[in-house]
Formats: sequence, structure tokens, C-alpha cells
Amino acid sequence: MLNSSAQSTVIPRTVLVVEDEPTLATAIAQRITAEGWTARVASDGASAVQAASTLRPDLVIMDIMLPVMDGLEATKRIVAERPVPVLILTARDDEADKVIIEYTDTITAYYKIKRAVIKDKGLYCNAISSEIFRILANAGVPVHFMEKLSDTEQVCRRVDAIPIEVIVRNVIAGSMAQRLGIEEGVIPAKTVIDLCYKNEDLGDPLINDFHALALGLVSEKELAEIYRLTGKINDILVPIFKGIGITLVDFKVEFGRLPDGSIVLSDDITPDSARFWDIETGMKLDKDRFRHDNGKVGQGYKTIYERLTGAEC
Ligand code: CDP
Repeated sequence: MLNSSAQSTVIPRTVLVVEDEPTLATAIAQRITAEGWTARVASDGASAVQAASTLRPDLVIMDIMLPVMDGLEATKRIVAERPVPVLILTARDDEADKVIIEYTDTITAYYKIKRAVIKDKGLYCNAISSEIFRILANAGVPVHFMEKLSDTEQVCRRVDAIPIEVIVRNVIAGSMAQRLGIEEGVIPAKTVIDLCYKNEDLGDPLINDFHALALGLVSEKELAEIYRLTGKINDILVPIFKGIGITLVDFKVEFGRLPDGSIVLSDDITPDSARFWDIETGMKLDKDRFRHDNGKVGQGYKTIYERLTGAEC
């Protein structure tokens, strides 16, 4: 029973119901009101955080699968601002293991110093990434991706993220070209795999296997699996892109652990995190257009989207 103490009949208590399914939200709110409490409904995670801040509820009933911000993230933020009991609601017992990833139209570079909005970038990247995840999963690569939820959202499995950025270079470009004084476009004798420690305060420094192990970021077995999966991802994607007239110059991926300890690809591959060059024209079709003010940034993303998914805009 909600109404268990004498005090609660004197001071009406407020319950914040966070539920995006209107029928369910109404049913829960009615039940709470019938107990003599006040119920307020929020239909997404971000509004829930806002409502919790202004309403100061005595209890929060929280769904997990929510638009804009998922229930677990909203709970974390609400409790960080003010301790309040939160009852997590879920229709399925495995929902706590899922996250919703939203793709936005914001583009950033140089540690987010440079920033802009590119129309429909979120839609393009979600479609590109969903298609790549589908291709990789079909070829036996374990991925966190579960399904494309909407134009700009995906449902993925929650992972324990490994703070290593793995960069694959089929053609030398970007930081490797600069660091080693190599001309952009040179094809290395062997595909290069770089590891970076994912730590923005340190500027995501380049590390090697010894560092990764010394920092306790991964076990030796995990590192071997990460290299195996990375090689497999590259072997699958290079011919796929070649088939649509694009050189997969380089890309960055990240991995995470599922509850059973197995390693999965937990990062998307899009023109935000990969370099794609048109084989015929040499035109760059990725974030470098934004980094270097080449213009037609959205056009680059759109080309990858159209060629990879066969979609006509
Ligand atoms: O991008 P930048 O030239 O600074 O660095 P890079 O080491 O040449 O990047 C290699 C590839 O990884 C590029 O496709 C980058 O877009 C991607 N990358 C990324 O997505 N995130 C990072 N933090 C670093 C690189």
C-alpha cells in the first residue's frame, strides 16, 4: 500500500510517474490518486529530470525504455540532484540491459571546440550505422546493436565500456600522417591498428598493448579478442565499401563487455568516426569536410547513406 502512515493522510505526497505509454501512465496515475496521493506524469527521461527538480516528488516511478533519455540515465540525474526513492518499472526483465542511442544533427571536432548543426546528419548516421551493424552481425561479429527504433534512435545492449579507442588505418591520413610526416593517401605496407586511451582530459593519448594492460583497461585475452574482432570488421567492411565506390580510409571503434564478460562492438561506424573517400573522384565524404571547412558536409554524409542503404532522398 502507498498510504501506510498516518502522516501521509495529512501531507499529500507527490509521485512522479515517468512513462511514455499514455494508457499505462494514466492507469498508474489514477491508482496513485485513488490512494489520496498526487500524481504527475512525465513522458520522457529529460522531462522527468526537469519535473523532479521543480516538483520535488516523494517517490518516482520510472519506466526504463523512454525516448530522449532512458530511465536509468534519468534516475541517475534525478538522484544526483536530490535523493528520492525511485521504483523502476519494466515490462520485461531484460530491459535494464538496454539503452536507447539517439543520433543528433550536431557535429563537433577538435575536442568539441568546433561545433555546428548539419541538417539530417542524425538520420543519415543512424541509418548508416544500423546498416553496418546489420552487416557485421550477419557476418558473425558480436555487436551491441539490437534494432533501429526510429529515424534517429537505436536500441542497443548496455555494456561495460572499455575505455580504448581502436583506430584502423587502411590509408594514411589525419593524425598519423601529421605525426609521422607521411603524405595523406599513402597505403601502408600493412594495415595499421592504433590504440588510444579514451580520456579527454589527457587528449585521448596514443597507447600500446603494454599500456592498455598496465592501466588495467583490458586483460590479455580481451585485448587479443579486440584485435581479432577489429581485423574481422575491417575485412568485412573494406570490400562492402569498395563495392559502392568508396575507400574505407580509416575508422575508429570501441568495445564493451556484456554481463557474461564477452566482448562486443559497442560503437558505431559513421562519417563522424571514419574517413570515406570516393574512389572515382577522390572526394572526401566524412567529417574531414567539416574539420577543414570544405563545405557540403551534409552532402558527404548523404552520399554514404544513399550508397550504403540504397535509399533515395
Ligand atoms: O581525426 P583525427 O585526424 O584527429 O585523428 P585520426 O587519428 O587520424 O583519426 C582516425 C579515424 O578515427 C578518423 O576517421 C577519425 O574520425 C576517427 N576518430 C574518432 O572517431 N574519434 C576519435 N576520438 C579519434 C579518431
